[in-house]
Amino acid sequence: MITICKNSMKLLSKILGRQATAAPFLRAGAAVEAPGTWNDVVRSYERPVDQANEQACAQNAAEAAYYAQVDRVANKWHHYLEIYDRHLSNHRDKPVRFLELGVCQGGSLQVWRRYLGDSALLHGLDIDPRCATIDDTDLVIHIGSQTDTGLLGRVVEQMGGIDVVIDDASHISAHQITSFEFLYPLLAPDGVYIVEDAHSSYWQDFGGGLRAPGSFMEYAKRLIDRLHAGYVLNADPVSRDPGFAAVTHGISFYDSMVVFEKRSGKARPRSTIVGTRWLA
Ligand SMILES: C[S@@+](CC[C@H](N)C(=O)[O-])C[C@H]1O[C@@H](n2cnc3c(N)ncnc32)[C@H](O)[C@@H]1O
Repeated sequence: MITICKNSMKLLSKILGRQATAAPFLRAGAAVEAPGTWNDVVRSYERPVDQANEQACAQNAAEAAYYAQVDRVANKWHHYLEIYDRHLSNHRDKPVRFLELGVCQGGSLQVWRRYLGDSALLHGLDIDPRCATIDDTDLVIHIGSQTDTGLLGRVVEQMGGIDVVIDDASHISAHQITSFEFLYPLLAPDGVYIVEDAHSSYWQDFGGGLRAPGSFMEYAKRLIDRLHAGYVLNADPVSRDPGFAAVTHGISFYDSMVVFEKRSGKARPRSTIVGTRWLA
């Protein structure tokens, strides 16, 4: 039985009362006026840069690879580069099987070649038939939709399996979920699945909106619960299904990016006490 004394209750309601008005770090002074459209939002973040200077000042290998790009056009947010490097550096200079959903001009695949090295197998998929004209001999381009699971299956088969997926295609939540649900189970046991521009989850034009039930972000939040299935005490079989947790090491949420990391042979978590001296 938990006994809460009168003073504790007073303290608790004081703390809760304070939280109700939001902790100071959550009140950084949001603008009162919401921006107009998602296009306005994106444009408000655009900044021209001195690419040569960015390359000279690169803080990690992904930044160095990105800012060295002079051939086909690539388009990435600067802060993604550090995140890529954090999650993909283990795959550099290895025969990593890499699939980019959303090829566009083909520049990002050239950046990935520079970053991952010559041993990487690089495939890209885009719905725009013009991408078929990308004739780099070290890239394999597939034309079709990220929602065509038959096509995705054939791509993975042709790749001989898959280690890394980057979803930078339609940014429509339903599409992101369809690709994830098909490809994540096929991903190698140490694979990494990255959904970028996940801010589209907050935009109605992409099937989202703040806490919209069908948005990719809400879907990803629910997967946090699935990662903890082994700790759920409710009898609900869906919440306690260990499938996702059994293969997933972690989910990382960043500004506009969600990263899922698988872990091979993920054992049941264990808790071990070490040391011999206890408090009296
Ligand atoms: C943001 S661009 C990709 C940018 C590129 N990855 C880069 O970093 O430079 C998005 C691309 O996704 C493609 N796309 C849109 N809907 C798609 C879908 N349903 N399936 C596959 N590709 C799609 C578009 O044709 C476009 O080329």
